[in-house]
Amino acid sequence: MHYVAAKICRASEIGINGNLFAGTMLSWLDEAWTAFVGYLCRSQSLITLKMEEVLFRRPVKISHHVRIYASVRRVGTTSLTIDVEARRFDFGQDTEELVCSTGSSLSISTTRQPNPIDSRLRVSIDQSLADFARPR
Ligand SMILES: CC(C)(COP(=O)(O)OP(=O)(O)OC[C@H]1O[C@@H](n2cnc3c(N)ncnc32)[C@H](O)[C@@H]1OP(=O)(O)O)[C@@H](O)C(=O)NCCC(=O)NCCS
Repeated sequence: MHYVAAKICRASEIGINGNLFAGTMLSWLDEAWTAFVGYLCRSQSLITLKMEEVLFRRPVKISHHVRIYASVRRVGTTSLTIDVEARRFDFGQDTEELVCSTGSSLSISTTRQPNPIDSRLRVSIDQSLADFARPR
């Protein structure tokens, strides 16, 4: 999977049981997958078509660092389907633990007028993923 973004959990994002709000996690994922697919499709205007089952495996607490990863599952005509994971970074162990996973489909058509993904980008999506992984 490709590293996309990192978030640090703030006190204002914590509910009464001491865990990060589910809706806050979803907004983090939403922003991250929009950035990921936007880069791959070279498009600033994307629409989320579908959010799949979201599994919250472990709690996120104040000051936890959450790293978000994504990978492409399917390249459609006007849409891309991706897998997304949020992982909590453990500074003591230097490891990551899965906290949340889902899948999402995004469309580059913002109206019902189909807007196909550029054919040059379709063939070069693997290259784009390599670029995504490379620091600039
Ligand atoms: C995006 C939108 C303009 C597409 O219009 P449409 O007339 O439904 O277009 P289509 O029927 O041609 O489908 C578009 C894509 O959705 C995909 N799609 C349809 N049903 C799907 C499903 N159940 N799961 C995943 N993808 C699906 C189609 O395969 C197609 O992708 P492709 O071209 O890569 O194959 C329209 O669905 C829309 O405006 N949706 C609202 C999006 C939104 O507001 N998102 C914010 C969420 S709060």
